[in-house]
Amino acid sequence: MIPIKDATGIARMREACAVAAYVLHELKKHVKPGVTTYDLDQIAKDLIASRGARSACFGYQIGDRRFPAYTCLSVNEEVVHGIGSMKRVLRDGDIISLDIVVEYNGYIGDNAFTVPVGAISPEVQKLLSVSEEALALGIAQARVGNRIGDISHAIQTHCEKHGFGVVRDLVGHGVGVDMHEEPQIPNFGRKGSGAKIRPGMTLAIEPMVNLGAWRTKCLSDGWTIVTTDGAPAAHFEHTVLTREEGPEILTLPPSA
Ligand code: MF3
Ligand code: CO
Repeated sequence: MIPIKDATGIARMREACAVAAYVLHELKKHVKPGVTTYDLDQIAKDLIASRGARSACFGYQIGDRRFPAYTCLSVNEEVVHGIGSMKRVLRDGDIISLDIVVEYNGYIGDNAFTVPVGAISPEVQKLLSVSEEALALGIAQARVGNRIGDISHAIQTHCEKHGFGVVRDLVGHGVGVDMHEEPQIPNFGRKGSGAKIRPGMTLAIEPMVNLGAWRTKCLSDGWTIVTTDGAPAAHFEHTVLTREEGPEILTLPPSA
């Protein structure tokens, strides 16, 4: 069953998502050559605490493994779930996905984007633009009466049109009281397939897009997902509320 949020659930999702967006946008200001991904993780940890929230990543358990960092920071060929490290120094020309998941007052907000470090190549810039556009096109399909596959199809079509590989091994997801709720939201699929979209769903839509082939593998740390061919990858994510009037992005950048 896909959870439907009532008015209270929606109000709390708004608050959690506002914190997640705040942390993401503040953290972005610290991305520059010379900073380590450990530094960024610590900055995010403090930002999350400053809002009275908690990282939903830290201690997140899959099997007998617990995620050891407060955020997911994934550089270049790392697609998602990278772990901040004092050894990973950002350099001019890198890209980094910042993925922030916070729990606030019992609800979870999830958002991410990939940003350049200094100057990047036109090819990689194109990867970022197309991936961000794919997220917007996917969100536009999150309309009541559509199906989850309509989101998937819109994302896949846009990325593949530009020759990029769409990751298959990881998917977007419902989000709410738990970080991962039903439904799964693949970034590839057929129009008209999957569950029907109803009012009150909160969906984390998150294209993961490779400059090269779609294949990925997991590093020996048990978490970091990298492209198999070593080419860079982009990741953009919003938490979206489905309303009768249309999709509403809950993780918009703070306005002030
Ligand atoms: N945004 C990521 C996701 O939706 C969060 C990773 S969870 C972690 O799966 F525990 F690995 F950090
Ligand atoms: Co997510």
